[in-house]
Formats: sequence, C-alpha cells, structure tokens
Amino acid sequence: MVIWQAERPLYLLFINCSNNKPGNPTTPMLNHLNRSFAVYIFSYLLVSAVHGQQQRAPSAHTLRDRFRDDFMIGTAVNARQVQERIPMETQLLATQFNAITPENVMKAQSLQPRWNSFNFEQADQLIEFSKKYHMNVNAHTLIWHSQLPRFVRSLQTADSLKLFMSNHINTVAGRYYGKVQSWDVVNEALNEDGTLRKSVFYDKLGENYIIEAFRLAQAATPGTDLYYNDYNNEKPAKRAGCIEIIKKIQAAGVKIDGVGIQGHWHLGQLPIKDIEESILQYAALGLKVAITELDIEVLKRNFQGAEISQRMNSDPSLDPYKESLPDSIQQRLAEDYDALFKLFVKHKDKIARVTFWGVHDGQSWLNGWPVAGRTNYPLLFDRQYRPKPAFYKVIDSE
Ligand code: G3I
Repeated sequence: MVIWQAERPLYLLFINCSNNKPGNPTTPMLNHLNRSFAVYIFSYLLVSAVHGQQQRAPSAHTLRDRFRDDFMIGTAVNARQVQERIPMETQLLATQFNAITPENVMKAQSLQPRWNSFNFEQADQLIEFSKKYHMNVNAHTLIWHSQLPRFVRSLQTADSLKLFMSNHINTVAGRYYGKVQSWDVVNEALNEDGTLRKSVFYDKLGENYIIEAFRLAQAATPGTDLYYNDYNNEKPAKRAGCIEIIKKIQAAGVKIDGVGIQGHWHLGQLPIKDIEESILQYAALGLKVAITELDIEVLKRNFQGAEISQRMNSDPSLDPYKESLPDSIQQRLAEDYDALFKLFVKHKDKIARVTFWGVHDGQSWLNGWPVAGRTNYPLLFDRQYRPKPAFYKVIDSE
C-alpha cells in the first residue's frame, strides 16, 4: 500500500516532467511550479501515508494528450485561475486542457458595467493566460438575458437596445478579434418547448435580434467561429426550436458555424440517445457541435438544465456528502463519463470541442446552485486537484 502512495505524487510530477521538455514553451513556467510542487509532494506523501487512502495506479495520459486527435478539451476558468493564484491549480489547468472558456469575465455585466464604459482588465488577463499556456479561447457570451448590466434593463426604446447590441458586439468582439477561436454569440434564447424565451431582447426587438447579433458578430470578428449555445437543446422539443433558429440565420445569409450543447447532466440520467440524435441533426445542418459546459450533477435537484433563476430551499438531505463522495457514487460517475466520452469519440468527426464547466469540484457553480452552500462532485478532479476515478475512465476510454 505505502509503495503505491509513493507513486501518486510521482504521477503529478510525471505529468509535470512529461510537459517539461526542452523547447516546450511552457517549460520555464513549469520549473517554477515544480519547486512549489516539491513542497506539495513532501506534504502529500506525509498525508497519504497517514491516511493510507485506496487509489488507482497512475495513467500516462493527460486529457489534452488523450483527445489530441479527436477534439479540443477545455474548461471554464475564473479570474483567480488566470491570475495563477494557486500553483497546483495552474499546473492542473496547464497540463490537462488546451482550451478555456471565461466562466464570467467576458459576460456583458463584467465587460460593460455602465453605458459605453468598458472594463477589459480580467478578460485581457485571460487572453494573456491563454497565450502563455498555448490554449484556445472559446469566448462566452455576447448576448444573453442573464448577467446583463443593470442599465440595459432600463433602456426604454428598441433603438437604444439596438445601439447597445451593436456597440457591445463591435467593441468586445472587435477587441478580441484574432485572439479567440469562437464566440457564444447568443446564449439560452429558447424555452423548454422550443419557443423563443421572453427577454429584454425578444420583447423589444422581436425574434430578429438573434440574426442581428450574428450579423454584427460576423462583421466585427470575421473568421471567428460563431456559436448558438444553450442547455437541454439535446431534448427533442428544444432541439427543434434550436434548428429553427439556425435555419433562419442561414436563410438570412448570415454566418453561424456551430451549436453548443451545454451538457449540465445528471448522474444516472444521461440522455445518451437524445445527445447522439442532436449531434447528428446539428451536424447535418453543416455545423460543428461542441459540448460547452459539461458537468454531471451527483446531488438531488428536482429540475434539469441550468436555469439560473430557479432555486431550491436548503435541506440537509440535499447535501449528504459534506465530507467525501462514497465510492459507489464515484464509480457511477466514472461510468457516466465513460459512456459520454465513448459517444463523443464515436462522433469525433462532428465534435469540435468538449469543455467542462470547471477545472475541479471546488470551483463548480453546482456548489451554489440551485441550493446555496452544498458540497458537490460533478467534475473529473477533486478539491485537492487530484484525478478522480472518472478521470481514469475517460482517459482509458477506447
Ligand atoms: O462578482 C460578484 C462578486 O463581486 C460578489 O461578491 C459575489 C457575491 O454575490 O457575486 C459575484 O458574482 C457571481 C458571479 O458568478 C461571479 O462569481 C454571481 O453572484 C453568480 O450568480 C455568478 O454565477 C455564474 C452564473 O453563470 C450566473 O448566471 C456562475 O459562476 C457561472 O458558472 C454560470 O455559468 C452559466 C453559463 O454562463 C451559461 N450556462 C449556465 C451556466 C450555469 O449557470
């Protein structure tokens, strides 16, 4: 037993060294991370020896290596992470992923807090981080009914809202032209039944606001992949509404390159058939498909998807794994992720990217939604940045 525990930190060091080759652009950064790693490994050996935890033998692959020939493998990142505040976290991020999505710093609320007054500090840091670690940026999101600057809701006329849209898209997409690989141009514009969601945009500008948003983005950032992004758009009714939006954009002669299926799914309830059918139907429209916000919820909640305005009252039965996740749930989570990645690899010719909505369990929005202050475990790495059984299932999936 002790022998194995000696290997685990070695795994982390191995991953570290495997990327630490002469000529590898990230080497100098990794050397610095190595030093702080040594301290970490020593303390880790000590803790592991004391705790005598059961663990699986290490794997030689990283996610970015394993899927190098299949699709980009990404993660949502927050401001602290691109400021590299925690070396272990930066290490994990830099070695496992080759694409990043801004979890919040490129949303309108963050970028344009007041009319025509922009704050690009954190978004610019994210771009610099992506250059430093040679990662693609999948920018998120230009037009969304949520996390809007307060002033937008007080705009009285259609013309002033149109002016907001054109000024925001031209300024933001123009600034990051050539620095990002794709934009989620419009996010979550549909209801579950496939009809258009009522929003400040729909109410004042009608359904054409979606086509106009893509037209503006096409002009402001030519050549950048433009996506429509939503949750539950793998379900038949919402998929039909999504396809209708796509066809209207295409019929207007406006560019759209891909569809984002967010992928906020539930343990043991993966809609594998719907996901496969959606990949096929969206690809049949000539579009790339991306899984843009992948996580698998392991705690109870009585609705699917990611409607941020929905909430549940806190209750101890809704937060049963405060200390750790039982092995039985770890295994079920591993099987679910294995099933998903088998499907993604099967359709790798249609899938451009798979992005997790967070690097590790500690970062996940699912710790605070729909119940505040829960301890959730929806991702591949735990709160100590260690790979979970699900990571090995995904890495070893054929
Ligand atoms: O920045 C403020 C901070 O100043 C303040 O002290 C703190 C306390 O309230 O709030 C901070 O803002 C929070 C923001 O995340 C940044 O951390 C907001 O309250 C919180 O609501 C916001 O949550 C984000 C959520 O979108 C908002 O809708 C989550 O981090 C983010 O993961 C989530 O991501 C969305 C995707 O964009 C679209 N699809 C669904 C997905 C999950 O909801």
